[in-house]
Amino acid sequence: MADHAILAGKRVLLVVAGGIAAYKSLDLIRRLRERGATVRAVLTEAGARFVTPLSVQALTEDTVYRDLWSLTDESEMGHIRLSREADLLVVAPATANLLARMAAGMADDLAATVLLATDKPVLVAPAMNVRMWQHAATQANMALLESRGVRRVGPNEGVMACNEYGPGRMAEPMEIVDAIAAIFAEDAHLPLAGRHAVVTSGPTHEPIDPVRYIANRSSGKQGHAIAAALAKLGAAVTLVSGPTRLPDPPGCSVVHIETAREMLAACEAALPADIAVCAAAVADWRVDGPSDRKLKKDGGGPPALALTENPDILATLSRPGERRPALVVGFAAETGDVLAYATAKRARKCCDWIVANDVSPGTGTFGGSDNTVHLIRADGVESWPTMPKDAVAARLAEVVAGYFAGK
Ligand code: C5P
Repeated sequence: MADHAILAGKRVLLVVAGGIAAYKSLDLIRRLRERGATVRAVLTEAGARFVTPLSVQALTEDTVYRDLWSLTDESEMGHIRLSREADLLVVAPATANLLARMAAGMADDLAATVLLATDKPVLVAPAMNVRMWQHAATQANMALLESRGVRRVGPNEGVMACNEYGPGRMAEPMEIVDAIAAIFAEDAHLPLAGRHAVVTSGPTHEPIDPVRYIANRSSGKQGHAIAAALAKLGAAVTLVSGPTRLPDPPGCSVVHIETAREMLAACEAALPADIAVCAAAVADWRVDGPSDRKLKKDGGGPPALALTENPDILATLSRPGERRPALVVGFAAETGDVLAYATAKRARKCCDWIVANDVSPGTGTFGGSDNTVHLIRADGVESWPTMPKDAVAARLAEVVAGYFAGK
């Protein structure tokens, strides 16, 4: 049996779909709560025909979420927050219908929408008639969901409510509790479990007037990849991202900002952190006193743009003090003499490591998918071969994990 101590403090979002096995979900709620987990429940319309919202509410001691269109639910707890504020989503019972809707990426009720909007692990406990389970459509849907990382517990073999025999019975509540504990245990063994990382990524936009801004060519690819790689190793990641075209990376909480000052404020709000990786291409200067009205060509010639310096986020986070993350990593994008400039930058900004890369025109680093970097630490320089930005990120995350393993 899995160690259930790991369930204490964990937040489970339980989706109860319509099946005779729904009554067992009431017991599941009780058993999870006994072990210190909090359970919030979403009940589908069909689910509410098998268990009453009142019993679910009484057992979870929380509102039962049922209606995608309920204004109250949306204003108090939008469906995005519902899925983000959970550590794990559990669908029990998972009916053939809901599995099909999940596989197709549908969002036609609150349950399906929450499952589509989530970036958290999902565990399903299928429950249905044996023929429905064995049908090629259900098997294909389940295989597709599993290939996307959805976990499954059961179904078990046995006599079904409809008197047929075979696989289709929902796993017992304690088997589901074990499966849930096993998923959390996997995460607890990851090398960066329990560590918080703040990652900056992308460019910043510094307004000139309400329609124009100063920006740069950063795509955010490297920073986003680093955020995803740290999350994959178990870190809780806050990604503070300037405007990019990239989707939010899985498993990270993302704060979208535009200006350097907003980026700094978001980073400081995210502290305390064990790790900070500043991969953003922060604008060095902003317009001093941007116009609150669109600047016009009024015949008087181009406007003079007075610039003022932006705060240096990396240097600010690196400042010694209680709030300083144990490991601060900066980037240095240089167009020549990369190692010399980057080494000087490490000392100037008081960060621990610098990842230096050559962004000369022709290297294709900006916006490209490959990167050639050198990792500069107090004890020397490691030059890595050219590789995809995802691979640079994975390797950097491994080195970060190695750093904490050695502490
Ligand atoms: O000084 P420079 O911009 O070359 O330094 C690059 C490093 O500093 C990067 O890690 C970048 O994210 C960070 N930086 C910052 N805030 C700034 C300027 C740069 O965090 N205002």
